[in-house]
Amino acid sequence: MKFFADTAEIADIKELNETGLLDGVTTNPSLIKKSGRDFIEVVKEIASICPGPISAEVVALDHAGMMKEAETLRKIADNIAIKVPLTIDGLKTCKALTGDGTMVNVTLCFSANQALLAAKAGATFISPFVGRHDDIGYPGMELIADIRTIYDNYDFPTQILVASVRNPIHILDAAKLGADVMTAPPSVIKQLFKHPLTDSGIAAFLKDWEATGQKI
Ligand code: G3P
Repeated sequence: MKFFADTAEIADIKELNETGLLDGVTTNPSLIKKSGRDFIEVVKEIASICPGPISAEVVALDHAGMMKEAETLRKIADNIAIKVPLTIDGLKTCKALTGDGTMVNVTLCFSANQALLAAKAGATFISPFVGRHDDIGYPGMELIADIRTIYDNYDFPTQILVASVRNPIHILDAAKLGADVMTAPPSVIKQLFKHPLTDSGIAAFLKDWEATGQKI
């Protein structure tokens, strides 16, 4: 499963990128607002740090407006994936852009039928939001399981990008279900490295090593 960071914070992206485990970055208008940075500038900087797909979202709601914004965004770097909402205009834009060889991430997906439409529109990535489903009392992971079944039934190449990830259990479940990608806040990705038994194990080994008086 590929790991994308769901953030526009440069320091976090650099830190994760240095682990060699970061496969891409996703941004959205809320994350850009949080960064306090100029949209184009920050996306350009992210794209120069991480070679994987960097999602940059359009804000126009009509097809012509989306195409115009996508034109500006895809010029930023070769690894930009244009993020479009799951609407009729969004999918029209998806079809036009992917037909042209541009990567497209269809976002704000909340049903398996929407994911089916995105695959038919040639989406590179479909972003079902699991956390926001959990928030309203619907198990978000059921959506991932349904999309996996549908995409496998028809060999759709669209990659399932699990979004709105809030905790390590979401990542574990996404991996068990065979999701292609997950995007999570850096704080959640960093939680995956942690286990109290790893920490206590290191402390015990170091104590015994010290007692041997040896050096490597
Ligand atoms: O980028 C979209 C997504 O990951 C949003 O997550 O936590 O705002 O629902 P969240």
